Amino acid sequence: MRILVIGNGGREHALVWKLAQSPQVTEIFAAPGNGGMKGLASCVPCSATDVEGLLRLAEEKAIDLTVIGPEASLLAGVADAFEERGLAVFGPNRKAAQVEGSKRFAKELMQRYNIPTGSFQSFSDKGQALTYIRRHKAPMVIKADGLAAGKGVIVAHTTEEAENAVNTILDGSFGEAGKEILVEEYLMGQEISLMAFVDGEIVVPMVPAQDHKPVFDGDQGANTGGMGAYSPVPQIPDTVIQQAITDILQPMARGMVQEGLDYRGVLYAGLMITQEGPKVIEFNARFGDPETQVILPRMKTDLIEILTRVSQGDLAEVSIQWREEACVSVVMAVKGYPGAYQVGDPLTLPPDERDRILFHAGTRYHAGKWETAGGRVLGVTALGTDLQTARQKAYQTVEKVGFPQGHYRKDIGVKGLISD
Ligand code: AMP
Ligand code: GLY
Repeated sequence: MRILVIGNGGREHALVWKLAQSPQVTEIFAAPGNGGMKGLASCVPCSATDVEGLLRLAEEKAIDLTVIGPEASLLAGVADAFEERGLAVFGPNRKAAQVEGSKRFAKELMQRYNIPTGSFQSFSDKGQALTYIRRHKAPMVIKADGLAAGKGVIVAHTTEEAENAVNTILDGSFGEAGKEILVEEYLMGQEISLMAFVDGEIVVPMVPAQDHKPVFDGDQGANTGGMGAYSPVPQIPDTVIQQAITDILQPMARGMVQEGLDYRGVLYAGLMITQEGPKVIEFNARFGDPETQVILPRMKTDLIEILTRVSQGDLAEVSIQWREEACVSVVMAVKGYPGAYQVGDPLTLPPDERDRILFHAGTRYHAGKWETAGGRVLGVTALGTDLQTARQKAYQTVEKVGFPQGHYRKDIGVKGLISD
């Protein structure tokens, strides 16, 4: 099979890496791809949201299946356009991807189908939002309704912070995405990411993972796209994961079918494990980044078989086999990220081994040398017999990366060691 992977991050490198192991896959293209895919995929300089360009590419290269990585591609209607042309594609259409594209849409769906989540109110009028905030106690969470690259969420610990957040978003800092806001109940607990392959009512869950959003150790500093992840998440009992599957993922899939949505792709539930059980923080309509970088190395099953079945609406017979090993991915970022940073710094990289993989997020190979090309540069990933061992191996590999301008968290996976 000839595959096209859309996107250019660490998630897409992990997808390419996994797909390249399939005996069914003969050639992989990536649009636009990244430096780390060298030797696995041919990178084509076509933007992930250039729908016409992607269609042309898929037709020219006789692609058998296109796999969509980023949410921006889903919301640009890539899946819709491919289906219209009769081209096989993995990823939900634009309407179904609204579970990620509009937080209000997702919340209303959850309300209609009794899916556990925090209470909320939505506003487009600033005065009404401010009145509401003053009548309720902090902490509370203020969110831009639309896509804001993870930056449109403000956890306000005081009324003043909440007021500032409302002003910032409704004054246009996030453009169209911030024309409407949600004020949400603050949920307390540990966060986990639970992803599933969804084809209509059929839900095939993956193993859980935990992301690390803040830039510094101990969850301090600004939120980023993710500074590392690990899987499994041993401190969260299997019974709780099972509860999340039966009370959240399955009713959500059934609800979407009842709403007439044709959801075929990955459904990602960002969950807070509260005293009352798991509650939804957000849904995403795609693979998580950096969660994918720790989940795919644990997957024994051929990914292409699952993706093909989902795209054809034939998921029922799939059962996924997982390695018992734990996986940890430590993100190495440029100093300054998620604020302003420079690119083009030199990098020296150790070779991959079976159980140690460097997933690239922002690198390029230029004149025979590696250099940085983004804020998040590498996801240094390792498998180990348990979380402790996987952590040790990942951090040993981090030490072997020549990246003096790099910054990384030293506590990726630490929360999982408590009861490991
Ligand atoms: P999101 O982009 O919706 O995943 O939100 C970013 C981060 O904000 C999450 O990973 C949580 O840490 C935090 N957050 C979002 N919503 C809530 C909530 N209702 N209660 C507590 N924390 C939240
Ligand atoms: N890791 C969070 C996300 O993919 O949105």
